[in-house]
Amino acid sequence: MKPINVGLLGLGTVGGGTLTVLRRNASEITRRAGREIRVTMAAVRDLEKARKLAGNELEIVTDPFEVVNNPDIDIVVELIGGYTLSKELVLKAIANGKHVVTANKALLALHGNEIFKAAQDKGVMVAFEAAVAGGIPIIKALREGLTANRIEWIAGIINGTTNFILSEMRDKGLSFDTVLKQAQELGYAEADPTFDIEGIDAAHKLMIMSAIGFGIPMQFDKAYTEGISKLTREDIQYAEELGYRIKLLGITKRTPNGIELRVHPTLIPTKRLIANVEGVMNAVLVKGDAVGATMYYGRGAGAEPTASAVVADLVDVTRMHTADPEHRVPHLAFQPDALSDTPILPISEVRTSYYLRMRAFDKPGVLADLTRILADLEISIDAMIQKEPSEGEEQVNIIMLTHETVEKNIDQAIAKIEALSTIAGKVTRIRLEELEK
Ligand code: NAP
Ligand code: HSE
Repeated sequence: MKPINVGLLGLGTVGGGTLTVLRRNASEITRRAGREIRVTMAAVRDLEKARKLAGNELEIVTDPFEVVNNPDIDIVVELIGGYTLSKELVLKAIANGKHVVTANKALLALHGNEIFKAAQDKGVMVAFEAAVAGGIPIIKALREGLTANRIEWIAGIINGTTNFILSEMRDKGLSFDTVLKQAQELGYAEADPTFDIEGIDAAHKLMIMSAIGFGIPMQFDKAYTEGISKLTREDIQYAEELGYRIKLLGITKRTPNGIELRVHPTLIPTKRLIANVEGVMNAVLVKGDAVGATMYYGRGAGAEPTASAVVADLVDVTRMHTADPEHRVPHLAFQPDALSDTPILPISEVRTSYYLRMRAFDKPGVLADLTRILADLEISIDAMIQKEPSEGEEQVNIIMLTHETVEKNIDQAIAKIEALSTIAGKVTRIRLEELEK
């Protein structure tokens, strides 16, 4: 059978890795796909750098529209990133009848609805395994392996850069900036690393998993996002003392009132497997009603782990190339006309537990005031510790863990605690998940 022709948009970390893996494992991949998958063209900005990497076996251009408009290309692989040029290129490729593979979670979280609609109308596939959790085949698991289940919740460490930063800071005592630089050199970080640090990249990935887990359209503007930039060593240390580890977690949960969709630093019991996922590794927990809790673990970023997912999509598309579009797995796992309009809950309506830390003057009655405020709002305390004041200091750190409550009640409690004359400054709040139900 004649080869299937692939055009790569971008030959950077992921594009370069994709070319390397396709070349190294060419015969094995052909045996699996049933025909050769051949990269015949690529678009980059820097021709010289690209030629050094790719050699002379493919045509390299600087205008990516030459790739998407080339009638000989069957599959376009978008590995440029961003959501302006990449959106135009993907829509043009679809309009030209080409299948698309992309690792671009930002593009899908923001414009997925439009892109999938265009692909459906044209009868082409848009595959995106590499967009979530790097090399872990979580999209395949959610869309196909778990298809019997009503998904209850998904929780994951889905940003390699921030997990790498948190691990290296804790284990090696390195500074935030030093570790971020390493993550950039290793090709883990986004072009704009604030996307990693502020939880935006994780929220893009979580939006995609939520959509295919619950059968809802993309609605990224409703995701709650909080990153790791305000985390202090002090809180990481106190959490450890209490038997918890802080991770940047993406959580999406089905509740009777709607769907929770949130990314934030989270205390997780140290005894959970997921709390021990370190460095660039990612892990995703999926709870289905039939299967129970399942966990998926692997490298969440980097050239070849991400290329592994891109190539898996290329093989899938090659195998399904001639299948009737009606008989392919739907883009969002559910039939497009069966997506649900279940609302995404605002963060004020989310239910979880909390770690609260405050600085209090070491005077009689302080703890009584704090417990009264919490009791009035029906917030139950799970644990409380008061640290010894440092020498010469008048204030002490009080740390409380609460049982599950609704976020708007904690907001009120924090406002009342901060108004007490015995409390100095702001209350630190970090959400806590037991991840057992
Ligand atoms: P990257 O290393 O910065 O590579 C981007 C590539 O796109 C480069 O080859 C660049 O060309 C090319 N490019 C950029 N603008 C272009 C333009 N206007 N015309 C032609 N070529 C252009 O990025 P990456 O890390 O591979 O990421 C690519 C995508 O994969 C992003 O959506 C990212 O979010 C996603 N992703 C990345 C990882 C990871 O670990 N890095 C993991 C999963 C998903 P030059 O080389 O000539 O500048
Ligand atoms: N910047 C992303 C991360 C790349 O660190 O996880 C993988 O999507």
